[in-house]
Amino acid sequence: MAELVNWVRKDPIEENVFWPSDDLKERSWVSDESIYEQAKADPEAFWAKHAEELHWFKKWDKAYEFSPHNYKWFGGGKINLSYNSLDRHIKEGRGDRIALIWEPEPINEPALKLTYSELHKRVCKFANALKELGVRKGDSIGIYLPMIPEAVIAMQACARIGAPHSVVFSAFSPESLRDRMIDAKAKVVITADGYYRRGKAIRLKQNADNGTAGTPVEKLIVVKRLQEDTPMTPGRDLWYHDVVADQPETCPAEEMDSEDLSFLLYTSGTTGKPKGIMHTTGGYAVQAHLTAKWNFDLHEGDVYWCTADVGWITGHTYINYGPLMNGVTTLVYEGSPDTPDYGRFWSIIEKHKVTQLYTAPTAIRMFVKQGDDWPNKHDLSSLRLLGTVGEPINVDAWLWYFNVIGGGRCPIIDTWWQTETGANMVNSLPGIGPFVPTVAGRSFPGILGHILDSGGSPVPAGEGGYLAIYSPFPPALTRGIYGDMERFAKQYFAEYGPERYFTSDGARMDEAGNIRITGRVDDVMNVAGHRLATAEVESALAQNDKVSEVAVVSRPHDLKGEVPVAFVLLRAGVEPSEDIRKELMATVNSVIGPTGRPDEIVFAHDVPKTRSGKIMRRVLKALVRNEPVGDLTTLQNPESVEHLKDQVGYGES
Ligand code: WT7
Repeated sequence: MAELVNWVRKDPIEENVFWPSDDLKERSWVSDESIYEQAKADPEAFWAKHAEELHWFKKWDKAYEFSPHNYKWFGGGKINLSYNSLDRHIKEGRGDRIALIWEPEPINEPALKLTYSELHKRVCKFANALKELGVRKGDSIGIYLPMIPEAVIAMQACARIGAPHSVVFSAFSPESLRDRMIDAKAKVVITADGYYRRGKAIRLKQNADNGTAGTPVEKLIVVKRLQEDTPMTPGRDLWYHDVVADQPETCPAEEMDSEDLSFLLYTSGTTGKPKGIMHTTGGYAVQAHLTAKWNFDLHEGDVYWCTADVGWITGHTYINYGPLMNGVTTLVYEGSPDTPDYGRFWSIIEKHKVTQLYTAPTAIRMFVKQGDDWPNKHDLSSLRLLGTVGEPINVDAWLWYFNVIGGGRCPIIDTWWQTETGANMVNSLPGIGPFVPTVAGRSFPGILGHILDSGGSPVPAGEGGYLAIYSPFPPALTRGIYGDMERFAKQYFAEYGPERYFTSDGARMDEAGNIRITGRVDDVMNVAGHRLATAEVESALAQNDKVSEVAVVSRPHDLKGEVPVAFVLLRAGVEPSEDIRKELMATVNSVIGPTGRPDEIVFAHDVPKTRSGKIMRRVLKALVRNEPVGDLTTLQNPESVEHLKDQVGYGES
């Protein structure tokens, strides 16, 4: 058994405030609170100091440069993410450490372990294969892969040759893939024949075919994961194992400018059109490396497991680049947490002696519901630290995670950040604390987070407002929206001006600077940790020609945090029915994928509108939450609200 830590409860106001034990303080990279003041006094010097921990082909000229909507980190520096993830460790004698453990979903299949040297070889071979196919620095590459080792290998290979990757979540629909590949101008897409999920073989290639037909994609590279035959289009489709077969085992890493694009990742904004968030190389590398190291207390020999999918920013930064740049073992699990049963996560932790677990509140809530017997059957004593990400966590889930999974000895690091920020932004540090349910913590050293009112003035401690980040911006912060810099300026800097990044999150801060995130203040939902705009679900439903009008709002949900509820007006002559409901669900499935499916579809005769004809989503939102609908005097059709009251459920699930 790992040794127990004496948790000290200090704060008389909050009931559950935990502080690091002496052991934890000693072990962790930072335990002196003065780090915050030091970093705040000179953020540029702080980041520059930690940039030195990485390998640079050429050192930067200037740490930070700012002009409105155009800020730069480590300008003039030359660096490569893959070199820092792999070569640096091999050169410094860490080549025999395990870099990656892959746990397939079928329990009869053995896990795969790759050392840093082996992973390096595989990455180089694939990088050479991409080059042979004509891929050059700056060409964007689509990655539509499940949770298999090739997902990490492909990202690393792209980074190695300077071809920005654009990963699309494998559960996203062909249509989502198509939109993203067209926007990113990808000529090559890497996919797989399929993968195993909940005991079933899921075929992915067909989705890749549908999603790339009629796009500029010229080559589809297909990883063979299933035992079955897969139709291949001659001249376009290539097997991954064929293209890497005869490639040399080394491939020089491209010397990238700090500010060169390392990847695009599409995420939901408030409109129906996802935006391609641009991330650079140098600044991203520095913040990914340091936050992974400090926040998850990464040390030699650690087996670190982040359960996110590679299709999200969490997978990019905290499955791939962050842990690998730190030379620890990163665990990749192919499948579902409930296969073969709800003990799977805990059996994986026991089997591989996982030291850090980083997961989402949605998963924790699901496990709480399944009871303590599942984790209690397993030895979880290897765990030293727990992380959470993606959505606000509730007190019960936090305490369960802390006591039942962490055995009361592991700090919980609740990390607030976004696709746009590229890396963790707000969380307590393991050696400093405090660890408080529902409170993420302070802004990471060197990051200037403030809570403002809508006019841009800081609000007093304890009062609600909006979270904004001040310049000097964190090095990993996005530099733009691909192909739409106007939207970039408008989305993030219209609110408070170019020197203050607007996060779209509500928050409050205590006297000591600890931040509690209260959730999005725009029309972006967080469904089981997946980001989704209500407008995306609306435009998906509107594609069905039986729909004449539609409004989507979010409703809180016990397990998933939030779910979409759709109000649908059918075209004249179409009667509501179970078949139509199913058809509409199928429409959403095919346009977005299962994450977008409404929890409830309300067939409405009318929805509340202003006199100018705008749908009052505020009223619908109140209705589905069983809250007072407020002032209806500006409505053109107040009677619609009464009718809807009888129709909506309140999500008692
Ligand atoms: C939104 C960003 C960050 C990677 C995964 C999500 C919400 C994120 C937390 C947290 C409360 C959180 C915010 C944010 N969020 N982390 N620890 N506590 N809320 O990235 O898909 O870009 O979503 O997720 O609302 O704006 P994303």
